[in-house]
Amino acid sequence: TRVPPRNPEGAPTVVPQDLPSRPRRNRRSPTVRKAFRETILTPDNFIYPIFVHEGDENIPIGSMPGQDRLSFKNGMIKQVREARAAGVNQVVVFPKTPDNLKTACGKEAFNPNGLAQRSISLLKDTFPDLEVYTDVALDPYNTMGHDGMVRSDGVVMNDETVYYLCQQAVSQARAGADVISPSDMMDGRVGAIRQALDDEGFTNVAIMSYTAKYNSAYYGPFRDALASAPRPGSEDWKIPKDKAEYQMDPANYRECLREAALDEQEGADIMMVKPAGAYLDIIRALRDSTTLPISAYQVSGEYSMLKAAAAAGYLNERDAVLESLIAIKRAGADLTLTYYAIDAAKWIQEGN
Ligand code: PBG
Repeated sequence: TRVPPRNPEGAPTVVPQDLPSRPRRNRRSPTVRKAFRETILTPDNFIYPIFVHEGDENIPIGSMPGQDRLSFKNGMIKQVREARAAGVNQVVVFPKTPDNLKTACGKEAFNPNGLAQRSISLLKDTFPDLEVYTDVALDPYNTMGHDGMVRSDGVVMNDETVYYLCQQAVSQARAGADVISPSDMMDGRVGAIRQALDDEGFTNVAIMSYTAKYNSAYYGPFRDALASAPRPGSEDWKIPKDKAEYQMDPANYRECLREAALDEQEGADIMMVKPAGAYLDIIRALRDSTTLPISAYQVSGEYSMLKAAAAAGYLNERDAVLESLIAIKRAGADLTLTYYAIDAAKWIQEGN
């Protein structure tokens, strides 16, 4: 028999309201709350972005506490082993190109023995079941710091860039990449890359397109990590100071539907929204307009903001990070690229 609960002294005596519906009944206990949870995080949906460099030691990235440029020789495999132990079996690889290999056209992007290609091969040789994603764009490889080649009048050339992106994609597929991710936002690159991969027999290599990639201030720490920010131009050779000519305007919503329709027609397997946290409406828009899987990139700036606030003691890191990842999934993302992948996977395990 239940004893009626007692009210605190001083509580008013009121007749209960005649409410047919009391939503709080479905939140009344941990078991009930778990039963009605609509969104469940799992490390199966995480993609862990890793930075790789040629040196012998891991080098901490100043603007991304907890993340390193991993040593190709000594650090990369160890870090990926840790990710897998936590349940994260998907990575995207970002190579830091040595300055002396950067050229105006960024042809190092498709050097068969380049750092990206060697990293992909080593990862696949070591962990055959690891899903390896790659980034396709020229900015880590060219001296201008743009995703495409820059003409002397400062225009980022579209079709010529796509020609090289296809070579980059094919070289990554040859190295063993499972999923090619064009992040450059040139027009027509998804279709051209699909064709180039198919022509070389790589019909099973998938394309995750950065479909709605915004011209965002949140990429700052990433550009530090790879030293890939746009460089100053000169009288003789103009270089755009930002990527507004090809990345989308943060003010725009309709435009993402146009990009999505094109990417779908051109053969994308997965469509990405980037950044994630400030673009949840865009994730939802794509989710509602396509049957393709959607991914979202919780980018470097989102990571660093959470880290900084946690370090200052302004918020609880674990709770804030898991909430940010739940929000991204709730908005409609199937996959989430996050630098928090390992920590989040461990927190999820502990919670279960
Ligand atoms: C390269 C690329 C960028 C990011 C992913 N691929 C930088 C940019 O477009 O300037 C950003 C990732 C991040 O900030 O975490 N095109």
